[in-house]
Amino acid sequence: MEKKELLYEGKAKRVYCTDDSEKLIVSYKDDATAFNGLKKGSIAGKGIVNNRMSNLLMSRLEQAGIPTHFIEELNERETLVRRVSIVPLEVVVRNISAGSFSRLYGVEEGIRFAKPVIEFCYKNDALKDPLICSSAAEALGLASDEEIMSIKSYAQRVNIWLQQFWNKRGVTLVDFKLEFGRTADGLLILADEISPDTCRLWDSSTQEKLDKDRFRRDLGRVEEAYQEIMRRVLETF
Ligand code: TMP
Ligand code: ASP
Repeated sequence: MEKKELLYEGKAKRVYCTDDSEKLIVSYKDDATAFNGLKKGSIAGKGIVNNRMSNLLMSRLEQAGIPTHFIEELNERETLVRRVSIVPLEVVVRNISAGSFSRLYGVEEGIRFAKPVIEFCYKNDALKDPLICSSAAEALGLASDEEIMSIKSYAQRVNIWLQQFWNKRGVTLVDFKLEFGRTADGLLILADEISPDTCRLWDSSTQEKLDKDRFRRDLGRVEEAYQEIMRRVLETF
């Protein structure tokens, strides 16, 4: 399958049309942004790690019964995916307090919750992706009540699966962000990516951050963290 015209360029990926109107090619860049694009940089090799990791995780989630957009990895940075229209909600699942949760509610990072927290943010750059409750998302027509229920159920299942996956590799899944999309025939599937850009991953014994927070917070050893987390994935795949 060949790349045709550029359909969309995001902060970390380019999306191309193909000969098949139901399939797109995603190309992962090394570009990194944070704080709604205010901080810009590049993480060498990030695109390769995110492409490979997202594909490995999505293909395994698919086997576990979660429908995803993944079709086929084409090369180290490019993947064939099912075309969807993205539901404009960022679905954040949290097992441990961190990031915007800690800031918003004034609590330290690292508090383990008795059960996971699921949050929605409205994907809207001009509004800076504000938190939104599910009834407001429904009122704005962003997703139907039925879709929101399916999204929550898939998010819970992905969380259980990912927690087990990372635990076996000595990594604690702190939180992560998912995006869902609708296919032309109205099927709701998991889309976008699951990578160190979209998850908080802490080494279980040292609590060292092995994700994009190293870039967001200028912690150094950013490239090394992406390579280390990829090494852990491949170790026992
Ligand atoms: P937050 O604590 O900054 O809200 O982030 C929660 C999780 O969502 C964290 O794992 C990083 C991920 N995330 C994204 O994937 N994209 C984003 O734009 C933001 C703000 C967070
Ligand atoms: N990628 C997002 C941005 O540039 C934020 C983040 O991942 O922190 O705004």
